[in-house]
Amino acid sequence: MLTNTKIILKKAQANHYAIGHFNINNLELVQGIVQAANNLNSPIILATSEGAVKYAGINFLYQLAATASELSKVPIALHLDHGKDLNVIKQAIQLGYSSVMIDASHETIEKNIQLTKKVVRLAHQKGISVEAELGTIGGVEDSIKSKNILYTDPQKAQEFVQKTGCDFLAIAIGTSHGAYKFPGKAKLHQQLLQEIKQKVTIPLVLHGASTVPLSLVNQANHYGAKLTHFHGVPESEIKQAIRNGICKINTDTDLRIAFTTAIRQSLTNNPQEFDPRSYLAEARNSIQHIVEQKIKLFGSVNKK
Ligand code: G3H
Ligand code: 13P
Ligand code: ZN
Repeated sequence: MLTNTKIILKKAQANHYAIGHFNINNLELVQGIVQAANNLNSPIILATSEGAVKYAGINFLYQLAATASELSKVPIALHLDHGKDLNVIKQAIQLGYSSVMIDASHETIEKNIQLTKKVVRLAHQKGISVEAELGTIGGVEDSIKSKNILYTDPQKAQEFVQKTGCDFLAIAIGTSHGAYKFPGKAKLHQQLLQEIKQKVTIPLVLHGASTVPLSLVNQANHYGAKLTHFHGVPESEIKQAIRNGICKINTDTDLRIAFTTAIRQSLTNNPQEFDPRSYLAEARNSIQHIVEQKIKLFGSVNKK
């Protein structure tokens, strides 16, 4: 059975580690992520964006995650990432997702509170937990580019949580989505995170947390990619953010690069091959490998 996201996050919060949120779009991503979690005895969150729902269909994605949880010895949660469309949010609640995110961070704070409250009411009726966002995370989301990062205000965050009753909060402390996160030195606003942590007692979430490892980018470029000017979040900043109270960490971009690079490499090395199982198995292995690295970085090994 799928696990309630709030339960694994509360445990992480009490014991000072973070749970990985990994975006899924297909079978091989699910299998690679879940194999890594089982190998390391770690709880994990599988997440579907609205883009993923559009690509694969919410029923397929739900069933993939539900089956993965049946076959696993570790807790697996299924989360709707960046929910903006109330119809998709309602569908996820109806199906039995573990948690949903309402992302109304681009609205005024009043509208954000109003929409978040509405989703909290709908989700809590079914025992489903809710992530909300205050402040804006930069980068590309569902092909919409947001240039500005609007840092989360600690006082407003406290009021927002009290008024909405949300279960965990995504905050903006300098990260952005995608592979091109920082124009200059890659750094998070750790001081601000500490101030938010003093005011907000629910689990805090870090979006845009891909590290975009140099070795992976070099490998991608070696096999024909053209990735330039990338800047991920340094691992040291992730560790510091966990020490400062982050307990859910969202990763998608690193998985995308790993998956695609493995396919590039497999096809380059085996030009005679045309069985998709051959290169998709390589992609699945590379997802397992990178998720194992993340689980170790987040400190959730043996925390099932
Ligand atoms: O936060 C954004 C995630 O990377 C999902 O991206 O909307 O392109 O699926 P997507
Ligand atoms: P990245 O683009 O850094 O992987 O962030 C993913 C994310 O925040 C999903 O919600
Ligand atoms: Zn995000």
